[in-house]
Amino acid sequence: KIVVTAGGTQEAIDPVRILTNYSSGKQGFALAQAALDAGANVALITGPTYLLPPTGARTISVKSAAEMQEAVLEEIPDADALIMAAAVADFKPKEESLSKIKKTDGQQKIDLVRTRDILKDVAAYKKENKKDLKIIGFAAESDDLKENARTKMQDKNMDMIVANDISDPEAGFGVDNNKVLLMYSDGSIEDLPSMPKYEVAEKVIQHLQSWLTEG
Ligand code: CTP
Repeated sequence: KIVVTAGGTQEAIDPVRILTNYSSGKQGFALAQAALDAGANVALITGPTYLLPPTGARTISVKSAAEMQEAVLEEIPDADALIMAAAVADFKPKEESLSKIKKTDGQQKIDLVRTRDILKDVAAYKKENKKDLKIIGFAAESDDLKENARTKMQDKNMDMIVANDISDPEAGFGVDNNKVLLMYSDGSIEDLPSMPKYEVAEKVIQHLQSWLTEG
């Protein structure tokens, strides 16, 4: 069983406004498809997206980072791997206004607080329950790609990180191709050329499959 998260999360400001990001969900959906094609049982936890979920995946739709965290923790106890492709909001409004905020003259300010880090919660769950779960995370960086991605992989106890240079026009949000580095916890790196997101997904799933079948 492979759990895949996809898309961007939405944090409510008031009943008509949200904080979100440009993630389209395409890479996450491609990963779910590639995992299905490899014969896995797939739970796809997705933020709001216009994409059609792949046939055969159990799709769980969420909005906020908190909802995504809850769904991930519910799905991982019987899973073999978690792929966190979602662009989870790092901050949310300190308070969600229940009525629409009216405009005023001058500057408006929204106080933000951190959301929970889902991968850090998963790492804590793994430790506490001695759970064997492969973890693949993502990094979207505009500077110092390798260094920042390696730090993220270590901080969040990932087995692999898919590092994405967002300053590269071929590897941005919403486009069909991606150009990534696959970086592993043993220090090895695979520099992939620009290719369709489904092919990136196949490469990731091939590695995962070899880990899981090696036992
Ligand atoms: N992630 C998570 N929980 C969060 C935020 C991110 O699990 N609250 C996951 C993402 O799904 C991704 C990885 O962590 O797999 C990205 O790492 P992160 O350090 O959060 O990246 P950024 O948010 O881009 O961090 P920074 O702003 O420091 O670059």
